[in-house]
Amino acid sequence: MAEHRPPRVVLGVAGGIAAYKACEVLRRLTETGHQVRVVPTESALNFVGAATFEALSGQPVRTGVFEDIPEVAHVRLGQQAQLVVIAPATADLMARAAQGRADDLLTATLLTARCPVLMVPAMHTEMWLHPATVANVALLRSRGIVVMEPASGRLTGVDTGPGRLPEPAEIAEFARLLLERPDALPQDLVGRRVVVSAGGTREPLDPVRFLGNRSSGRQGYALARVAAQRGAEVTLVRAHTSEDLLPPASVRVVDTGTAAQLREAMVHESAGADVVVMAAAVADFRPADMVQHKIKKTDSGPPTLSLETNPDILVELVGKRAEGQLIVGFAAETGDENGDVLHHGRAKLARKGCDLLVVNAVGDGKAFEQPDNAGWLLGADGGEVELPPGSKALLASSLWDAVAHRLG
Ligand code: CTP
Repeated sequence: MAEHRPPRVVLGVAGGIAAYKACEVLRRLTETGHQVRVVPTESALNFVGAATFEALSGQPVRTGVFEDIPEVAHVRLGQQAQLVVIAPATADLMARAAQGRADDLLTATLLTARCPVLMVPAMHTEMWLHPATVANVALLRSRGIVVMEPASGRLTGVDTGPGRLPEPAEIAEFARLLLERPDALPQDLVGRRVVVSAGGTREPLDPVRFLGNRSSGRQGYALARVAAQRGAEVTLVRAHTSEDLLPPASVRVVDTGTAAQLREAMVHESAGADVVVMAAAVADFRPADMVQHKIKKTDSGPPTLSLETNPDILVELVGKRAEGQLIVGFAAETGDENGDVLHHGRAKLARKGCDLLVVNAVGDGKAFEQPDNAGWLLGADGGEVELPPGSKALLASSLWDAVAHRLG
């Protein structure tokens, strides 16, 4: 039997305060079976000690090119890596990488690596938006390096804005994506406007109760993040989503709650968009009346709920679609006595009239609130592609492949 070798990852850590989050990225990578060699810069060690990285990785930690001379580490590490992740990537690190410098072990490793490279920026907003950094990022991207979109949020001290390190789970997901598919993030959606809905709607019953569903919004966020990374201008229309999800700074977010609010936002935002993706889990029914006070227990037993049907947003968007606009739906299905998951998916595609439908099998702990997803991508043109099990980012990149292909 072929020996299973864990993927070799170099985790570069540059000298910014977000270096402490590299420990969490490292832990996630090692726990998911990667062999990680941490290569900090000298200044990164002002924030996290080498002992921490050595203990968490089980590997030695070096910063300079004059250590481990017999092993020629400044060449071997890059040559042997299957992925280089730099988190955080500071403005200085990206400037040195853009210039092709090799004045420490990390930059030397970048020059010898022939594998995918993921740089995850973290810096103050002014530094991120400075023309020098903008030019360096563009140059690095033109060489095929994936420079992840930073998040927007709390920075060091009282500052907030674009430049925050994305969450370690998101960095680990992109790392996994690039190992699964090194070509998963091409710049093929530049100039395209994309609208993605995410999360589950909540239909209020009274001031404290609602009818909701288990959607976390993870798939919708992955779609938005991957589209933004591929160059699209993205609007994320979100219903209720998990609190640990942070969109990239370049993504415009529109908040909604109920199906009616989501409908209004989607109709408004979709005008002029090239692609519309309905990944949100929309409640099919809502309480006919929202009671203004908390419904109390009474001796006469539980209240009877009277429901009415919500509009089908996807069908409405298909009806309003402009020439050339692509509309994508999602379907979470289980098989039953009338047919299997795929049978129900094909029927739903015909019923909804959208261009593409992602069909996920649900039940038995699949899809909802899970990091992974699988299914089929069905096209109105008869196309049918199986989506192998993998991260939600992998499913997102397969969907954007199909979209980019159809947009020509
Ligand atoms: N959808 C929508 N508006 C609704 C319900 C669903 O836009 N009121 C969209 C979802 O965002 C998804 C697609 O329609 O893209 C399919 O959702 P699903 O819940 O599977 O479809 P339903 O029409 O509710 O069919 P079912 O009877 O299987 O629940």
